[in-house]
Amino acid sequence: MTTTAPKQGTNLLYALIAEARGYSDAIILGRGDPDFDTPPHIIEAAKQAMIEHHADDVPPEGLLSLRQAISERVKRVNGIEADAETEIVVTNGGQEALLLMVLTALGPGDEIIIPEPNYNTYHDALKFARVNKVSIPSSAETHFRTDPEKVRAAVTERTRALLLVSPNNPTASVIPQDDLQALIGVAAEHDLIIIADDIYDLFIYDDYKHVSPASLPGGKERTLTLNALSKSFAMTGWRLGWVTGPADLIQRTKALKAGITGGTSIISQYAGLAALTGPQEPVQMMAEAYTRRRRLVMDALDDMGIQYGIPQGGQFVFADISFTGMDSAELAQRILSDQHVLVYPGAAFDKERGQYIRITFLQPEDKLREGLERMRVAMKRVLGSG
Ligand SMILES: Cc1ncc(COP(=O)(O)O)c(C=O)c1O
Repeated sequence: MTTTAPKQGTNLLYALIAEARGYSDAIILGRGDPDFDTPPHIIEAAKQAMIEHHADDVPPEGLLSLRQAISERVKRVNGIEADAETEIVVTNGGQEALLLMVLTALGPGDEIIIPEPNYNTYHDALKFARVNKVSIPSSAETHFRTDPEKVRAAVTERTRALLLVSPNNPTASVIPQDDLQALIGVAAEHDLIIIADDIYDLFIYDDYKHVSPASLPGGKERTLTLNALSKSFAMTGWRLGWVTGPADLIQRTKALKAGITGGTSIISQYAGLAALTGPQEPVQMMAEAYTRRRRLVMDALDDMGIQYGIPQGGQFVFADISFTGMDSAELAQRILSDQHVLVYPGAAFDKERGQYIRITFLQPEDKLREGLERMRVAMKRVLGSG
């Protein structure tokens, strides 16, 4: 079965996914949700909560016991001081957290500076909030580094916020501490709110180091930080995340949360409590698996002569396929039709990203290995040497 995919947008991705579903031997190399199961002790805690707490009242900002566990977690892992009573809101996953952060920090006509490429849903949230984005492009050659001086030069009198997603999706770049401190300096000079997304903070490779802006001098008082359990505990479907930040901003986030969705499911909150206070070995196990898979992907791309930004953190590689002379939509279509392997074309996320594909580490090693081998065969054919 071969279909001709439209050139860009989510329709493109849906068309490719639909085609892949039609192949019994398809391997999806672009997916974004972890392939691991939620650890069993978390599921047990949720079962218990169903029995004991199903009719409890849920405050919009979340259970105090969970907020205390979050406060402890962000201090231990990120060096962020967040008061459980006044500086934390529990959310329906990272997705709600990011919308709440945007609505807290920005209003119609305001500007936000965004290093690009970046996580697509921010663009949707900004459209929803009628906020204008000012993009700072980056490329695979510099491993998608964002130069703080470029950010400084992009500030206008309408700029109100700066988005920092580290490790980034899709580029997998991690902002080094020096750059981060310089970016906080720019934000302080122009009184900007920093919207920080730490969702991949537990998956960091080689000697790269993740630092949260809110942990650095001058950072805490102007930073809203998102995190969630979707990636770290393989809990995508539980919808459990949070925002931390200074009490005045969090007061607004809490009011928005109360008006938009009210409290987060009590069952998921108890599951989250078990995740944060229980054994942390499952996270370590997943991090080690991603480290091995990352190596497989990098070796395969090196072998195919494809350039990419070194994945410094996160769960993916963003690879530049411009040397093929093809748009990413066309290339993804060719690889899929020829070898039943689906890589996600950058064009599916943003028309500016047509030269990239995203490959994730979210398949078991044997499947990943086979998918990469088939991709190599397809690339050879595409380049006319196979
Ligand atoms: C950078 C980033 N932020 C937030 C989210 C949303 O996470 P969640 O699945 O918890 O809604 C994602 C999901 O892929 C992400 O990549």
